[in-house]
Amino acid sequence: MKTLVKDIRIVTKKDIQSVLDQNMPIAFPTETVYGLGAKIDDIKAIKKIFMLKKRPLKNPMIVHVSNQKMISSVVLNIPKDAKKLIKNFFPGPLTLILKKKKTLNSLITANMETVGIRMPSNKTALKLLDLIGQPIVAPSANVSGKPSSTNYKHVLDDFDGKIPLLIKGEEISLGIESTIIDMTVNPYVILRPGIITSDQIEKVLLKKLGTVSKTIAPGMIYPHYVPSKPLTVLEGDYDQIRNFLKSKEGSIFIGDSLKYKDIPNFVSMGEGKDQLIINLYKTLRSLDNYKGEEVFTHVVDHRGYMNRLMKASEGRLIKLSIEN
Ligand code: TXA
Ligand code: MG
Repeated sequence: MKTLVKDIRIVTKKDIQSVLDQNMPIAFPTETVYGLGAKIDDIKAIKKIFMLKKRPLKNPMIVHVSNQKMISSVVLNIPKDAKKLIKNFFPGPLTLILKKKKTLNSLITANMETVGIRMPSNKTALKLLDLIGQPIVAPSANVSGKPSSTNYKHVLDDFDGKIPLLIKGEEISLGIESTIIDMTVNPYVILRPGIITSDQIEKVLLKKLGTVSKTIAPGMIYPHYVPSKPLTVLEGDYDQIRNFLKSKEGSIFIGDSLKYKDIPNFVSMGEGKDQLIINLYKTLRSLDNYKGEEVFTHVVDHRGYMNRLMKASEGRLIKLSIEN
């Protein structure tokens, strides 16, 4: 199969219909990462997504919507607090877990009684939703376990020749997946941190979210974002990091060029937090291009970023201030 890469400005209803007729998924950008989506009632296409991604069937998918009617078509009801979050953060990088309607296919929700709902703010994603006219079920467009895709080329690396259509358009502006909040428990808890923080949510709801919870999104138990070379996170100041790396000659160091550009074998992830977040997956996907078998990086003061980094490093963190 040839994968057609097409800009949303020239995608027609006919292009979309041809993919839907084949019961195949479509790749498209959102403001967070690329998604691999299927029309909500196209069970064959949804099964193909699980297969192409090698995604465990126990991992539910997020339902993407572009209007209130689509939300109401999948959730049992929209509680008051959910309405507040919708008003303040939709469209945007937030996924609400709510009770699902019985009619929603259980393949999408991995047999759970709840469903994740998100309204992306990316214009290309919204246009696609409007062209299809129904919610789109979509996980991130990457093979399970690999870093998510923040560029259409990443999608091609994983799925070229396996999907009929990859839509390009407004680019990714954030770089890590949406914040997920479970609103079916009391107090509500963040299942996956992201760009929208618990502080921002608490300010809108005027109530505290559950603190450290053992509950995480079902998908987060699986390996995630793992690069081709082992990554270790270093916690310490500049001098401690530099000293430590003296015994790691030939290793690669990835990070913030505002602070670390003089480290040997430095690979820049950009300048400052926002750029680091947006370039995280791209950097993790590019490590084969650099000499060196081991990769190190530094801690960044951002919960969503650190959540992804600790998964990418499979938990390897060295506290230099304690070791030395
Ligand atoms: O930003 C995003 O959310 C991106 C873009 C494409 O929208 N999507 C994304 O999807 O990250 P995915 O499938 O890679 O991650 C969805 C996460 C998984 O960890 C899954 O377990 C969790 O959301 N999830 C989905 N439905 C859920 C539910 N009903 N209850 C709890 N967690 C759920
Ligand atoms: Mg994913």
